[in-house]
Amino acid sequence: MSAETNDVETEARAADSGANASAQFRSRMAAQSAGRVIDTERIGRVAGRAIAALNDIVLEEKVSYEEYNALKAWLIRVGEDGEWPLFLDVWLEHSVEEVANEHREGSKGSIEGPYYIPDAPELPWNGTIPMRDDEPGTPLVFAGQVRAVDGTPLPGAHLELWHADDLGFYSQFAPGLPEWNLRGTWIAGDDGRFEIHTLRPAPYQIPTDGACGQLIAAAGWHAWRPAHLHLKVSAAGHELITTQLYFPGDPHNADDIASAVKPELMLDPRPNPDAEGEIVDYDFVLDPEA
Ligand SMILES: [Fe+2]
Repeated sequence: MSAETNDVETEARAADSGANASAQFRSRMAAQSAGRVIDTERIGRVAGRAIAALNDIVLEEKVSYEEYNALKAWLIRVGEDGEWPLFLDVWLEHSVEEVANEHREGSKGSIEGPYYIPDAPELPWNGTIPMRDDEPGTPLVFAGQVRAVDGTPLPGAHLELWHADDLGFYSQFAPGLPEWNLRGTWIAGDDGRFEIHTLRPAPYQIPTDGACGQLIAAAGWHAWRPAHLHLKVSAAGHELITTQLYFPGDPHNADDIASAVKPELMLDPRPNPDAEGEIVDYDFVLDPEA
């Protein structure tokens, strides 16, 4: 990779990334919200419990006016920086995911996070992810099979993969990257098999120059996510699974800021005997649609 490309990419600003994430989320929600019925009883109960929990914290921690005003200023900044998707996906989505997937017998899920973009280019079962000519990173062959819970292979299953580059940035959220860099949709073969050719992603810090970074610094936390692959795997008649896969030895597997690591999601890569880089096997098992 050229130094010039590096400079552009590292100029990524939290507010720009946040604005993109907010716009992406809004357009997806607009497509889904037609005809939605408001359940007043449900909203009253859940919102009421959330407000009561916050009031309990104020009373128990004896929160001062100074602290209350600092909170108010910070919440305003979260909105100004477009970081509500980031804040919610980092600190709350893992619990929502747990509830959503607790019934599954098949593969474990994990959070989607704020950097998913639908409709990434389609590739054959053994295709190579779109990347720059000089894309830095260790080559990774990610191979496996998509099956139903009874073991039946699922031909033509779709595997959407997106991941960060060697500097920890996502295309469409950092400047200077081609539109679909390190994003693709693989179509599994007749036996449900896939062989994805990509690069090992880098661990990254969530943006530190916006409101979320301000909270992290003020609280003395760290901003790291361990290296991971994001995936959505789907097949006709089966429930789509959104998940992430991780690499052993990452220093932040045990204290991921987004609390999204699970033991079942750990990969076991080994040196590729046939080419430069690493190879890893991981199969997906999809639950039947309800
Ligand atoms: Fe990520």
